[in-house]
Amino acid sequence: MEYAARFAGMQFKQAPIILGIESSCDETAAAVIRGRQLLSDVIVSSAAEQAKYGGVVPEIASRAHTDAIGSAVERAVAEAGICKEEIDAVAATYGAGLMGALLVGLSFAKAYAYALGVPFIAADHIRGHMAAAYLADPALEPPFITLLASGGHTAVLYTKSYTDFEILGSTRDDAAGEAFDKAARVLGLPYPGGPNIERLAREGEANIAFPKMFKGNGYDFSYSGLKTAVINYCHNKEQKGEAYSRADVAASFQSAACDVLAERAVQAALQKGCDTVAAGGGVIANGYLRQKLAAACAPHGIRLVLPARRYCTDNAAMIAAEGLVQYRAGNFADLSVNACAHIPLGKKGKQ
Ligand code: KG4
Ligand code: ZN
Repeated sequence: MEYAARFAGMQFKQAPIILGIESSCDETAAAVIRGRQLLSDVIVSSAAEQAKYGGVVPEIASRAHTDAIGSAVERAVAEAGICKEEIDAVAATYGAGLMGALLVGLSFAKAYAYALGVPFIAADHIRGHMAAAYLADPALEPPFITLLASGGHTAVLYTKSYTDFEILGSTRDDAAGEAFDKAARVLGLPYPGGPNIERLAREGEANIAFPKMFKGNGYDFSYSGLKTAVINYCHNKEQKGEAYSRADVAASFQSAACDVLAERAVQAALQKGCDTVAAGGGVIANGYLRQKLAAACAPHGIRLVLPARRYCTDNAAMIAAEGLVQYRAGNFADLSVNACAHIPLGKKGKQ
């Protein structure tokens, strides 16, 4: 019998204990939740090691995951104050991400679930970013608008139910996080780009009129024009031998990149008649964007659900939260499930 079929017709718990495991990029993470309550959360990052190479080196990431995964899970279980036999399901990221990196967490999680005899849930990393909001506000219930801004995705979504959403708009080229990383490179800032731009921007003023994009209508985004404008601005100044403020470039870029995210999320809420905007993904850790979102929501009385910064960038609490969504939907995976480097936004159904 296939593994998932063992749990068909099982009596599900109201507040199950779920172990989440994340290893899609350079963070090895493990977390335990009980219902929507976070019990523990461990993140071991190889970012410092990766920074020496200016970005994530897949082989280094895989090795770092292999070294860290066992003790990260052990710590998460211990810090949750439970014994592992109390775990009701194990969820792990099966994609998107780096294949070698994903396989470490996925294989570990499958073996762990099998050893405990509990359901295994194959979690979509991006749905995990969106599900982080459920932990940030345990009272949050669909429908609401989700603003997703990560290294690979930028989208405004209408979250209709826990498992179903409509994409109102997404990026036509680069993702917001990718734009931050590229702009950082132009400014000579080290990896990871986003937080370094944010830091430098605090010392500058948003006084350069970079294009706020978009020829397109609706809720689509486009970041390649902004990226090119930043590159051109810096190159022109350098060619002419003119001094310019890198901090002003960072601040101007940041406002051009973020203002539109806040505006679109609020527009979508108004259009759909939603009283709540939730946000997720690494770029949502940006302090400027968080303030912009709060300022855009307030005049309309829109409730804003922002996960703490730690739960915007990669973590396992969000994977456990997505695990809870799938647990309640009875969407369990077989142990034959493989890692997947790319998963289209909005992919439906079982893995
Ligand atoms: O969500 P995430 O951790 O990984 C993906 O699933 O893609 O997002 C990573 C992205 C990177 O591009 C990073 O530069 C960006 O999020 N990021 C930030 C900040 N922290 C991370 N961008 C702007 N400001 C930040 N503070
Ligand atoms: Zn991520």
